Amino acid sequence: MSQVTIESVLQEGRVFEPPAELAAGARIGSMDAYRELVARVEADPDAFWGQQAREQLHWFEPFHTVLDWSNPPFARWFEGGSTNLAYNCLDRHLQGPRAEKTALIWEGEPGDSRRFSYRDLHTQVCKAANALKALGIGKGDLVALYMPMVPEAAIAMLACARIGAPHSVVFGGFSAEALRDRLIDGGVKAVITADGGFRKDKAVALKPAVDQALADGACPTVEQVLVVRRTEQPTAMLEGRDRWWHELVEAQSADCPAEPMASEDRLFVLYTSGSTGKPKGVVHTTAGYNLWAHLTFQWIFDIRDDDVHWCTADVGWITGHSYIVYGPLSNGATTVMYEGAPRPSKPGAFWEVIEKHKVSLFYTAPTAIRAFMKSGREVPDQYDMSSLRILGTVGEPINPEAWMWYRQVIGHDRCPVIDTWWQTETGGVMISPLPGATPTKPGSATLPLPGIAADIVDNEGRSVGIDEGGYLAVRRPWPGMMRTVHGDPERFRKSYWEHIIGADGRPLYFAGDGARRDADGYYWVMGRVDDVISVSGHRLGSMEIESALVSHPAVAEAAVVGRPDPLKGEGIVAFVTLQAGLSGDDTLGSELRRHVGSEIGPIARPDEIRFSDALPKTRSGKIMRRILRALAAGEEVSGDTSTLEDRSVLDALRG
Ligand code: WT7
Repeated sequence: MSQVTIESVLQEGRVFEPPAELAAGARIGSMDAYRELVARVEADPDAFWGQQAREQLHWFEPFHTVLDWSNPPFARWFEGGSTNLAYNCLDRHLQGPRAEKTALIWEGEPGDSRRFSYRDLHTQVCKAANALKALGIGKGDLVALYMPMVPEAAIAMLACARIGAPHSVVFGGFSAEALRDRLIDGGVKAVITADGGFRKDKAVALKPAVDQALADGACPTVEQVLVVRRTEQPTAMLEGRDRWWHELVEAQSADCPAEPMASEDRLFVLYTSGSTGKPKGVVHTTAGYNLWAHLTFQWIFDIRDDDVHWCTADVGWITGHSYIVYGPLSNGATTVMYEGAPRPSKPGAFWEVIEKHKVSLFYTAPTAIRAFMKSGREVPDQYDMSSLRILGTVGEPINPEAWMWYRQVIGHDRCPVIDTWWQTETGGVMISPLPGATPTKPGSATLPLPGIAADIVDNEGRSVGIDEGGYLAVRRPWPGMMRTVHGDPERFRKSYWEHIIGADGRPLYFAGDGARRDADGYYWVMGRVDDVISVSGHRLGSMEIESALVSHPAVAEAAVVGRPDPLKGEGIVAFVTLQAGLSGDDTLGSELRRHVGSEIGPIARPDEIRFSDALPKTRSGKIMRRILRALAAGEEVSGDTSTLEDRSVLDALRG
């Protein structure tokens, strides 16, 4: 089992200094420089963020106030200013030689490939923006994207930002039901999708899921559907609602000035799972998010003009938003977008992309690294990856073994490994090494970025001691923080700002993760402390999966927990009681797994379904997940079980 445990990281004593050559040219090239910067921000955070915002972004109208935190947890950044994210990502790079620099390299799954200069991308985005306007979409209208990994996904995101229509990207692997929930919750006006995409050597249709989500007038606010042609599968188009991208967009003018947006105007909504209820629409706003994506990308990858950056995430997740599209483009970098994935027929798919496009900055997930380890170093050893400079990882704790493999086999001991901790809610990276400054330790995200007032605390917001576990929290607002939950500001307060109240009565931002800090102040993130399960770095709420299970007519009650999984980080185990008279067997188990897949998406399918007559509950009727987690992991149930209502349940579940 290659899991991160307190024991495994406590034994971890290895330290790797930044390569001298990298440190020599880096923006932040030593720990002294890092500490100086931290001290400068701490002395006057507003002055620092204000200066960064003025220097790093283009403003139509300057801001007059850096931060208004008079009504926590509702922060307002850069008030009075107006800017535009698409302008910052495109227009400002068009003066001078950067106009012809490659902005986007796209590698299709079947081996087709496209390249866009900053000028090309600007033209495409302007045309798409005009197409949205032609459909009657304007400032403030929410547009959903349900797309495969094609350039049009990035173009559509930027087109929305250009006209001030917030986007809501829904991961293309989610089911029609999950899409429908998000369209309804958002009050979405238009959907941009594709006929399909290529996944693991075959064309997979996408448009039918949109039709299904919109069927029977389920989403009355959705007026338009714009469809990109990718797979050329036969696709039904509904007269009056559906339009082809290539027909509408190509016909537009390439002249579309960027809309000046107030700093706090909504930029996008992105749904993520929490411990309670349905997924939350995390709201990010224009200037603060832009600054954070820009600055963090610059810091953690120490970007240089000739870098080629590849982040392997899907644009349907925050990682894709911040580090495929907005962070790189805002910095004028070259970003790679890949439609495919490694698969048995092409185990070297990733390394081929690195060799072909001379990728220098590579950013992927621990779950992918563990899968590569399994297929052996013979695969990557066949490729020339000497272009690599920095290796990043994100999404879940990385076990020291996988970290070392990444460094040695992929990075040939030359490239620093940057383990970046952050969340959909934080907009960008929060805790991470700086490649030219921070000595790294396998399995640690190291230190907070300058200006991030991270801490590890107890329930009362008191910092815990060295090597004591606690809650990962943030004491002060930062520009990229989420602003609210779409349509539910109270839920925003309750989910993030109510768990930990400091001695001064001020709330701290509660991330939902447990962590510890070692004697060097390094952070070791241990994983979620709530009922969120992380499967291959994808966040799933146990309650969402439980709701999906009980929507099946055979199920009376369900409790879902995570269990350690050597490849995926966590696997899903569902404990299910059935309606009276029914008994569970493999066939029903498979049916329930399929059912969850169609309710949420294949990633939410339980690995194991265990049928039982009853679930362990407290006298007040609360399911004791701690017990189920131990059972699922095959561990002894330890700790206090005296609150258990019926002890025989435990014996039965043990089998
Ligand atoms: C949760 C956020 C933000 C990018 C992708 C996931 C876990 C993320 C790390 C890391 C340990 C990590 C946390 C966090 N996580 N990065 N480097 N080390 N855990 O975004 O879906 O919003 O999930 O992912 O549990 O809370 P997300």
